[in-house]
Amino acid sequence: MAMVEKVLIIGSGAREHAIARALQRSLQVPELVGLGTNLNPGLMQLCGVFEVGNITDAEAVLAFAGKHKVTLAIIGPEAPLEAGVADALWQAGIPTVGPRQQLAQIETSKAFAREMLTKYAIPACPGYRVFQTMDGVADYLTELGNHYVVKADGLTGGKGVRVAGEHLHSHEEALAYAVALLDEAGQCVIEEKLVGEEFSLMSFCDGKTLRHMPPVQDHKRAYEGDTGPNTGGMGSYTDAGGCLPFLTESDIQKAQQINEQSAAALAAEFGQPYQGILYGGFMATREGVKLIEYNARFGDPEAMNVLALLETDFLAVCQAIVQQNLMDLEVTFAPLATVCKYAVPQGYPEKPVKGEPVDVSAVKQPEQVYFASVEAKGDILREAGSRTIAVVGIAPDLSSAEKQAEELVSDIEGPLFHRRDIGTRELVQKRIDHMREIRG
Ligand code: AMP
Ligand code: GLY
Repeated sequence: MAMVEKVLIIGSGAREHAIARALQRSLQVPELVGLGTNLNPGLMQLCGVFEVGNITDAEAVLAFAGKHKVTLAIIGPEAPLEAGVADALWQAGIPTVGPRQQLAQIETSKAFAREMLTKYAIPACPGYRVFQTMDGVADYLTELGNHYVVKADGLTGGKGVRVAGEHLHSHEEALAYAVALLDEAGQCVIEEKLVGEEFSLMSFCDGKTLRHMPPVQDHKRAYEGDTGPNTGGMGSYTDAGGCLPFLTESDIQKAQQINEQSAAALAAEFGQPYQGILYGGFMATREGVKLIEYNARFGDPEAMNVLALLETDFLAVCQAIVQQNLMDLEVTFAPLATVCKYAVPQGYPEKPVKGEPVDVSAVKQPEQVYFASVEAKGDILREAGSRTIAVVGIAPDLSSAEKQAEELVSDIEGPLFHRRDIGTRELVQKRIDHMREIRG
């Protein structure tokens, strides 16, 4: 009989709550401990021990892991990956799901990600150039005309990308933003603006073998009709057939292939296996599937969609990732549709109200509720200022999953709002029509 795993979950959003839920379903009955940044009531309930601490401080994480004798760690967010927490855990003999610092550059440096794809001849990039000085920036903008995007190189919590026609309205504005980025970080990326529909394709990766998850579509804009400021993601859906209504099977195969080629490129580049979740942010365009960005972790909200569907024991998947035997594990997902909707504080993302009480006691299916930026203070839950609570509807078809998610989210009380349009027939049809128009 194998030992009981004691699993450390790092992070405390809805994504980590979903990770804890998936582990709790394991027939191996692991013990869970958590280290996060807010007193997430969901994690506090599922973890034998849950503490708030500095999750980007490798020493502090190691001390916590050592004290609780953890046998496996799972890193949820990107910041600890960038800080080398996976390296420290592996060095201390704790197998970890989440790539080491060098490999996490696929997310933490946009220049690195683009240049690696080019070096390994993976044909998925838009036209792009990396700049360390303003030399050539104006010329490159002239070459791109009205179709340019200016990106900060490093992690910016989704706020570093400015797109022509949305955030930037002239080459003057683009130049000024490039100057600011170079002053700040010494490097920026300018690239061709792609037109199409975005989707996320995440893969479990042990460094050699990838097991792909169903594609998901997230919604970045704060308000209905895809208007308003960008957010961490207001909600997301998967469709029942393991496809998305606006994609073809070949789009999905292409995205899977790009993830496979990128994992192989990372292994070749660093001589180390990428062990974790590889998240490709793709755009389906007239010229085929292109890579927008990589993340080195589960998406949030995408994790709630896919983990709700995962049929294979998630702990077994994590063990296969760290032991590098995903090849021997079949990973399957229920053929159902999911719709995830986030309730966020009024004023989010610019001026979110904070500290207000929220109440989920009227929600009929508490197991479909995921806590995020919310703090448990005694019996009262209070908004902590970012995306507050996610719900997931699960059904044989998208419309029913959407209705279920809408019912669940509507029963949450507090000064919150959500996007009613995510997963609705109308919005999904708009995506289908958009792609039809683009493909001609
Ligand atoms: P990223 O942080 O790279 O995912 O960028 C944030 C958002 O900016 C993406 O979700 C896209 O909506 C948009 N974006 C980034 N790069 C491009 C591009 N080359 N063309 C069009 N939109 C882009
Ligand atoms: N949903 C986008 C992200 O996790 O980065």
